[in-house]
Amino acid sequence: MSEPIRFYYRGAVREVADASPTQTVLQHLREELHRTGTKEGCAEGDCGACTVVIGSLNHGKLELKAVNSCIQLTPTLDGKALFSVEDLQQADGALHPVQQAMVECHGSQCGFCTPGFVMSLWGMYLDKDGQPAQRREIDDCLSGNLCRCTGYRPIIEAARRMTELPKVEFDRAALSLQLRAIERDTASTYSARGQNFHAPRTVDELVQLRAAHPAATLLAGSTDVGLWVTKQMRELGDIIYLGQVAALKTMVEADGRLEIGAGVTLNDAYAALCRHYPRQLTDMWQRFASLPIRNAGTLGGNVANGSPIGDSMPWLIALGADVVLRGAGGQRVLPLEAFYLGYQNKDIREGEFVEAVRVPLPRADVRFHTYKLTKRFDQDISAVCAAFAFTFDGDTIVEARIAFGGMAATPKRAAQAEAALNGKPWSEANLSSAMAMLALDYAPLSDMRASSEYRMTAAQNLLRRYWFETRADAPLANDAVNAFACRA
Ligand SMILES: Cc1cc2nc3c(=O)[nH]c(=O)nc-3n(C[C@H](O)[C@H](O)[C@H](O)COP(=O)(O)OP(=O)(O)OC[C@H]3O[C@@H](n4cnc5c(N)ncnc54)[C@H](O)[C@@H]3O)c2cc1C
Ligand code: FES
Ligand code: FES
Repeated sequence: MSEPIRFYYRGAVREVADASPTQTVLQHLREELHRTGTKEGCAEGDCGACTVVIGSLNHGKLELKAVNSCIQLTPTLDGKALFSVEDLQQADGALHPVQQAMVECHGSQCGFCTPGFVMSLWGMYLDKDGQPAQRREIDDCLSGNLCRCTGYRPIIEAARRMTELPKVEFDRAALSLQLRAIERDTASTYSARGQNFHAPRTVDELVQLRAAHPAATLLAGSTDVGLWVTKQMRELGDIIYLGQVAALKTMVEADGRLEIGAGVTLNDAYAALCRHYPRQLTDMWQRFASLPIRNAGTLGGNVANGSPIGDSMPWLIALGADVVLRGAGGQRVLPLEAFYLGYQNKDIREGEFVEAVRVPLPRADVRFHTYKLTKRFDQDISAVCAAFAFTFDGDTIVEARIAFGGMAATPKRAAQAEAALNGKPWSEANLSSAMAMLALDYAPLSDMRASSEYRMTAAQNLLRRYWFETRADAPLANDAVNAFACRA
């Protein structure tokens, strides 16, 4: 039996019973609710004109996150709260400090991007409880918003100014109560226009639904799948949504590994990983898409999608991470590199899903670095992504693990380059041999991001850079220089 979608919007619970399961939140706002403050620019998560804030309970704790409404599907709102730019006006009609600061600092010209910027800034205002932010935090907050008129300086000034204005409180306790009132404990199904949207709450329910509907589309953060709808006009058929399964949103540290549930957002997963690998992964965290994409997308979705130009797989493979698969037959654990069989072809059986990723924690004898090469710092897809994790005994390489993205049809290890290094000293001569071997390991494509020649040269030079940064007498082997080099 179909159950309506229930979410909190503008002071009341809204029920939706007849919207298409693939209607986007942006379409719902503009076309059903006639709240047209939120704009559509790209419809693919890139420009931020559609940014809204979603409130939800995660293990009972209220979270308020900016996301791109153009690629989120309306049924995912069930049990959550939706905030659009119209919500910021105060009861007496006054502007919110975020809006007032944009006015005072001249942060808007044509205004098309402005509601999106305001919502991203509001997300940060809530996150920091109205306290001033560092410049890097402001840049990160705005990494998913594009403006073609104003330039970013006045908007960055507004991000500073907003915390100098009289603070506006947000009633978190009241919202938490509202959300608890519409929470569901067991699986729900929303059916409309011949399509079913299943939302299990437990892993067991997910296993059963997956077994019963093996052809259904699995949906997690929707930052890949949303584009199948808005850009490829694909029919998704029935959908199984993972975003309400609380048990998939946990992280557990045990036996030298961090196990990250498939429903943990990219932002939370990278935040936890950066506590262990601050020098190596912080740049990757900040440069992975934008904050609204990381607030929605999951590490499990990144791994399950397994794009050859995805950013997490090379370093996960280099570190020796495992993927945990789950189905009616129980659990299967694979080294991540064995999961990728070919382009868009993975070792996942009918009825299975990715349950978690297990990431090894730092070890004193392993030197791990990862690099992302793109045309711009924020919100760009890799031309080449490299990761190196060598185990050393003194200056001898016990085990070299090298993985690249952007160099083959899958994220892939460099078997021949590794063989040229295993058991050998980390010398310039052995580095040169391994660089030559990379040409046998990979035959990269030319595309709009980079030519084949560029990719190969860059991959070889990244291995050289790793040598510069890790060889015994490395002039660049101190943390400060490495952090700087990663940003260059
Ligand atoms: C603007 C933009 C910028 C981006 N930038 C980057 C970037 O810098 N680097 C990068 O690597 N990626 C980037 N991406 C891609 C995307 O954000 C990531 O791949 C993300 O991790 C996908 O996770 P998701 O939870 O949104 O997955 P979804 O879109 O929900 O699903 C992705 C795929 O995985 C499947 N799936 C999801 N979860 C599971 C599971 N638990 N078990 C089995 N199958 C599952 C789905 O069926 C689907 O095939 C970007 C995307 C956008 C729109
Ligand atoms: S419309 Fe561009 S990010 Fe949504
Ligand atoms: S003010 Fe015109 S796009 Fe930003």
